[in-house]
Amino acid sequence: MKKYLILLFTVLTSLHVSAKSDGSQLWLGKQYANSCQVISQLPDDATAKIAKLELENNWRGKNVELKIDKALNLGEGYNIYARPAQQGDNIQYEATITASNPIGLLYGAYELIRLQNTDAYNTGSGNQQNFSKAIDETEKPQVGLRILNHWDNLDGSIERGYAGKSIFKWEEIKLGKNGKGGSISKSLHDRLITYARANASLGINGSVLNNVNASPKMMTAEYINKVKVIANILRPYGIRVYLSINFASPMALGYTKTADPLDKKVQQWWKKKAKEIYAAIPDFGGFLVKANSEGQPGPGDYQRTHAEGANMLADAVKPYGGIIMWRSFVYGANHKGEDRVKQAVSEFKGMDGKFRDNVILQSKNGPLDFQPREPYAPIFDNIRQTPQIAELQITQEYLGQSKHLTYLAPMWKEFFGFVNPSKLVGISGVANIGNDANWCGHPFSQANWYAFGRLAWNPSLTAEEIAHEWLVQTYENQDEKFTKPVEMMMMTSREACVNYMMPLGLHHIFKFDHHYGPEPDGFIASYPLEWCPVYYHKADAKGIGFDRSSKGTDAVGQYPEPYRSQYDNIETCPEEYLLWFHHVAWNYKMKSGSTLWQELCMKYNMGVAMVEVYRDFWHTSAKQYMKGHEQEWQHTDSLLNVQLENAKEWRETCLKYFQTFSKMDIQ
Ligand code: GCU
Repeated sequence: MKKYLILLFTVLTSLHVSAKSDGSQLWLGKQYANSCQVISQLPDDATAKIAKLELENNWRGKNVELKIDKALNLGEGYNIYARPAQQGDNIQYEATITASNPIGLLYGAYELIRLQNTDAYNTGSGNQQNFSKAIDETEKPQVGLRILNHWDNLDGSIERGYAGKSIFKWEEIKLGKNGKGGSISKSLHDRLITYARANASLGINGSVLNNVNASPKMMTAEYINKVKVIANILRPYGIRVYLSINFASPMALGYTKTADPLDKKVQQWWKKKAKEIYAAIPDFGGFLVKANSEGQPGPGDYQRTHAEGANMLADAVKPYGGIIMWRSFVYGANHKGEDRVKQAVSEFKGMDGKFRDNVILQSKNGPLDFQPREPYAPIFDNIRQTPQIAELQITQEYLGQSKHLTYLAPMWKEFFGFVNPSKLVGISGVANIGNDANWCGHPFSQANWYAFGRLAWNPSLTAEEIAHEWLVQTYENQDEKFTKPVEMMMMTSREACVNYMMPLGLHHIFKFDHHYGPEPDGFIASYPLEWCPVYYHKADAKGIGFDRSSKGTDAVGQYPEPYRSQYDNIETCPEEYLLWFHHVAWNYKMKSGSTLWQELCMKYNMGVAMVEVYRDFWHTSAKQYMKGHEQEWQHTDSLLNVQLENAKEWRETCLKYFQTFSKMDIQ
């Protein structure tokens, strides 16, 4: 249906008013001055005004009507009805967007523009018979909370950020004499508007502005008043602001002697703090909390449970409709010695049902830590009464950072194949956004921001569809000689990364701390064992892999059937998870007939070969299709060379090291 939206006549006559080839426009594309007339039922509403403006600037049809119909109960969704209309010799589209509220109108406006900029191009010229078709599309988001998590520190640095410093430049927000009011630099304001447009164009409706390893300073009046300035900018785009908190804030700021959640003074402090925040930001979303994890303070410091800690905060924000997103990423503290991937379930299972109704448990997609491939995290099965958010990582901490072309939608779709998104109340993504001109570092890393938003809105979209949408909107070229191979490159890139970094279920064999290159021999006695690569691959003379079967740590026991039995048995365990769940002999016969060692060599070789193909295609064939985007072509071209060198380094380092155990020839 979508492909019928063809507006060729107006494409040819539109006046192109702005273009930049540094990637700063994201997928939002060029703007066109045109004669589109927008009639809005809500002329004074800030959000509806943006919808009108976006259509006036970007839609090349004739008339659009923006209508509100509360009775339709569309939530944040919309209906688009677009039909062809004759105008002299030309045919143009007229459209009606109906929604139950202004944000639905805005989402509908972005969808109409997306239909135009993707399928119109996709269809190419000709195809006249399709001009007579109408579009009638109703969409509603599948999950309510679609949130970016920024790991941005107040000093402008970003934990695991690879695209420059934070876009939230706190020093460029100046408060008035009484600490209130606030003015913002024009450049910061403009940047935030583009940020808001980009998010709203995907349906992202929340943003956690600061790092989960949070500074207590975030809770000071000064920062709350600055957050208010940002919240005011994001609000008309349907984006609510949330904050990460340091659990010990009242104590760290000198107001209380402890941060014990059962201490009345501590409870009072948080209640007052919530009141202060909501007075400044009435639609404030709530808090994201990393507690008793990797050195962060938490209720465990006072022998209280995570539930007691979360509930204390939940009570503080409850009167204002706020939520607490409590992270399950905890290990070490209460479960020393237990297999790290089991610890979240061990810690939280017994607490299910003990949380207030405005507490949501937020868990990473895999049980370890955003590896290139992990089995899904069984916490999503083990917690039944507490609402859950899945936390995905858009920033490529373990997938080549901003140097490798790694399209993540296939990985997230793999996860949704195990965890049904309809059971989640939200989907969060650790942002890859920074102050680089092109926002995300690698030109193709923008596709991961895009894909996160689109999947959070509609997890049943395919990774291919999303790659296509992003590509044709970003590079404004629909020629299949360009789109097909580039989409193929995107679609296979995550598997390539798994192959050249850690195939067959290997995991966490990265260099300490920066998590970029390989260090399979990594071991530092003074570090927790769970940070050392040798803990994860367990290579020895017999074989390689972590025995998590029922004979090993029994991590398989946390999975429901049929996965439990399937993963437990070395014969039925999918080979992509083999070394995750089993310690396997070097000469074990794989399905291909090769030995494990041969298969390992083959996978590493394959990973390198795939990157070689990407690099060659890009270098020899892509440029001619990227007129106006030469800078981005060049950038990707040089990064693909880096990626290839890195892939070779991974292969060499890992195979040579593992060979010291296998004693077999590298093939
Ligand atoms: C990873 C990451 C840390 C981050 C942590 C978290 O371990 O390397 O930088 O703080 O995850 O998600 O809390």
